[in-house]
Amino acid sequence: MEKLNRQWLLKDRPQGSVGPEHFELAQSPMPEPDLASGQVLVKTLMLGFDPAMRGWLVDEPSYLPPVAVGEPMRASGVGQVVQSDNNTLPVGTLIQGLINWQEYSIGDPAGLIPPAPLPAGTPPELALSVFGGTSLTAYFGLLDVGQPKSGETVLVSGAAGATGSVVAQIARLKGCRVVGIAGSSEKCEWLSTTCKLDAVIDYKSENLQQRIGELCPSGVDIFFDNVGGTTLEAGIAHMADFGRIVLCGAISNYNDTTPQPGPRNLMLLVSRRIRMQGFIMLDFLDRTQEAIDALTDWVLAGEIAWRVDEQEGFDNIPATLQRLFNGSNVGKQVLKLAEPQ
Ligand SMILES: NC(=O)c1ccc[n+]([C@@H]2O[C@H](COP(=O)([O-])OP(=O)(O)OC[C@H]3O[C@@H](n4cnc5c(N)ncnc54)[C@H](OP(=O)(O)O)[C@@H]3O)[C@@H](O)[C@H]2O)c1
Repeated sequence: MEKLNRQWLLKDRPQGSVGPEHFELAQSPMPEPDLASGQVLVKTLMLGFDPAMRGWLVDEPSYLPPVAVGEPMRASGVGQVVQSDNNTLPVGTLIQGLINWQEYSIGDPAGLIPPAPLPAGTPPELALSVFGGTSLTAYFGLLDVGQPKSGETVLVSGAAGATGSVVAQIARLKGCRVVGIAGSSEKCEWLSTTCKLDAVIDYKSENLQQRIGELCPSGVDIFFDNVGGTTLEAGIAHMADFGRIVLCGAISNYNDTTPQPGPRNLMLLVSRRIRMQGFIMLDFLDRTQEAIDALTDWVLAGEIAWRVDEQEGFDNIPATLQRLFNGSNVGKQVLKLAEPQ
């Protein structure tokens, strides 16, 4: 009997919150790589989940084209090469890349984001978490865009997440005083005790505006913002003169049907001479090795802690995306489909 490839296709573009109802399960013929041109067949082992995936569902031009209705949902992940004539990607190689919500995909070395072999011995969950795109985002966003100096105060929102927790710990390693914002007492406890932040704010049970003021009496030198909306506004209110705001993401807005007005206090950027800059991690891909080397040193020295939230099962893929938007994820959100062979 012909082997089929299970896929989750985009059924409808969400208006508001994204959920399983926006995807449909399909069984398609197995993809056939053009082996002569170096393409390979990849079996999906583990998927990574990113808030940016919500943005890829919006039918507007962005840094990547939107996912088309009827196409498999775009996703990064780790897979294993199961068919190949390519000497650099032989059968058995573990690769990282855009492999989408499907059991098998074609790895194309000439594609937009070519499959990248994992360093030998790297488990898939490590490649997607502490050595994955969120850590590269943290590294380049904080160091290149934020430009921290020892002794400065760094405020991080989404601080217990995959990106935020690495930002906060790199800031600590650079000699900064670090204040993290997260959405539960358990996440705040982990940030204080394991990640060794100087102070934490549980935005769900504390007055965010007031607590930032109390914990940053001389103002915030760098605000690394993953959340946007009222959190961004609260951070702006407490910026020090010549501070830098690193706009990494705005997860509180991603499911909005109408854009939020504001922040309403942008004039403070003028009076306090603040620089606010967005960035996309993909712009730094040519410096990946620099970040991986630094992260490796910190991880081996026990200086950076991380957590992986591992779900399982092909049927659970769409529901797992929702976990990012209700804060259920504890660390980097991944989903395991198969073990490497
Ligand atoms: N610029 C880039 O190149 C780039 C690359 C990767 C990621 N990002 C951005 O980085 C941010 C974090 O992404 P991640 O992959 O590391 O995810 P993550 O932080 O591991 O998970 C998302 C977290 O966001 C928080 N959250 C969800 N809804 C929220 C809301 N309405 N208000 C406040 N917090 C909310 C939740 O934490 P709590 O429980 O603490 O609320 C949740 O655990 C996102 O904004 C993402 O778009 C940007």
